Amino acid sequence: MIDAKISTNSLIELSKTEGDLNSTPYRNEWLTNNVGAESREWLEEDANYFIHQSLSTPCLDVLESCEGIYLTNIEGKKYIDFHGNNLHQLGYRNPYIIDKIIQQLQVLPFSPRRYTNISAIKAAEKLASACPGNLNKILFTPGGASSVGLALKIARTVTGNYKTISMWDSFHGASLETISLGGESIFRKGIGPLNSGNEHVPYPDSYRGIFWSDTYGDEKYAEYIEFILEREGDVAAIIAEPIRNTSVHIPSASFWKRIRKACDKHGALLIFDEIPTFMGRTGKMFVFENYEVIPDIVVVGKALGGGIIPFSAVIVNDELDIPADKSLGHYTFEKNPLGAAALIASLEFIENENLLEKVSLLSGVVKTRLWEMYSIYPIIGDIRGIGLLWGIELVTDRELKTPAIKEAEKIMYHCLEHGLSFKVSQGNVLTLCPPLIIEKAELLLALTILENAIRYISEEQNSI
Ligand SMILES: Cc1ncc(COP(=O)(O)O)c(C=O)c1O
Repeated sequence: MIDAKISTNSLIELSKTEGDLNSTPYRNEWLTNNVGAESREWLEEDANYFIHQSLSTPCLDVLESCEGIYLTNIEGKKYIDFHGNNLHQLGYRNPYIIDKIIQQLQVLPFSPRRYTNISAIKAAEKLASACPGNLNKILFTPGGASSVGLALKIARTVTGNYKTISMWDSFHGASLETISLGGESIFRKGIGPLNSGNEHVPYPDSYRGIFWSDTYGDEKYAEYIEFILEREGDVAAIIAEPIRNTSVHIPSASFWKRIRKACDKHGALLIFDEIPTFMGRTGKMFVFENYEVIPDIVVVGKALGGGIIPFSAVIVNDELDIPADKSLGHYTFEKNPLGAAALIASLEFIENENLLEKVSLLSGVVKTRLWEMYSIYPIIGDIRGIGLLWGIELVTDRELKTPAIKEAEKIMYHCLEHGLSFKVSQGNVLTLCPPLIIEKAELLLALTILENAIRYISEEQNSI
């Protein structure tokens, strides 16, 4: 019954968004069967006061607390969180980070413009020392979209050009300038004129892993970018995620090396958006370190504030530190001492716990389990991943790669029911982003919940 009710519009939108929608029949079914009376009342209250929007209000559940890899709702149900808005790299309520934030909170919680503070200076120094190459000049902002906006302003100022090349179906934030760069119709449609000069290209999606010797067809994507650079002649920057965090598409090393060269040839800057992946998601501090390609500008956020303080940064090659007579953007919370304390504590925590090594070890565990599942369940059309970022692409036909959109949503809700939370990207990709502090046994437990859901939905589909 429910299948028949999924609207064509919902399906089209599902296949183009970074996450699952909150308006499908399966969401309603979830609410009816899984949410208790008290939670339902709060959800209604929430929907009464907050502006309704896709991907947010009306919401999924009401939370009471979080710790480590877990979210707990007001009825005491726990979810292992493999989504966490990509901010929970170091786990929820990380005690080491909380302690440092509290120490800062008691001394200097805010620093007005024109003043600096030692917490911010030390954070900038520590962040710069974590960056390869000459990436060592920094501006902090309160959020990712603001940092992307600053990166664009710097690129315009330095090159004297304003055009950009970015990727269809990408997300760089929800502000007007960032949806102009982004490629998701759910953000762009019906909103009026966007920034001009934003050329879009497809994200290279045919390659399966950085270290495979073959380029698997992503040369054609590079050629198209080179063509635009040549043809336009005045592009300020290319901006992209070096690995797409939502659908987990992983371009080849030769792709990014070729784009780096093309940028240098045509005087365009290469900007990497590492807002969701910075702080070790792939087993390296930055994703681009896997490629041995250094961008001119990198934008980071989310985990930067320790999963607690809204904090983001734009980091540039020090040769680009030239717009001193311009006011680029000193946000009210620019040199936020609390965000800075969280950042220092987070980087210390990663070092103290050898977290990057741990990610590489656990990566093998996920890989083995997911490929076992691939060999059993034909609904799994592809598996892509690196470090602790994995995407499972679901299909109704492996040969034709027909997206299994309804099935992906059903699997997600089945997992939620059994205590595992993740999001569905671009309609049919299950995106798995566990906190990096997860233990092997917890990881295996979560993957068993996932496998049970895949088996259940596969059997259900076969019996129809
Ligand atoms: C790749 C990417 N860029 C930019 C942003 C925007 O960050 P914020 O929500 O902090 O503005 C996000 C957020 O999801 C993101 O995933």
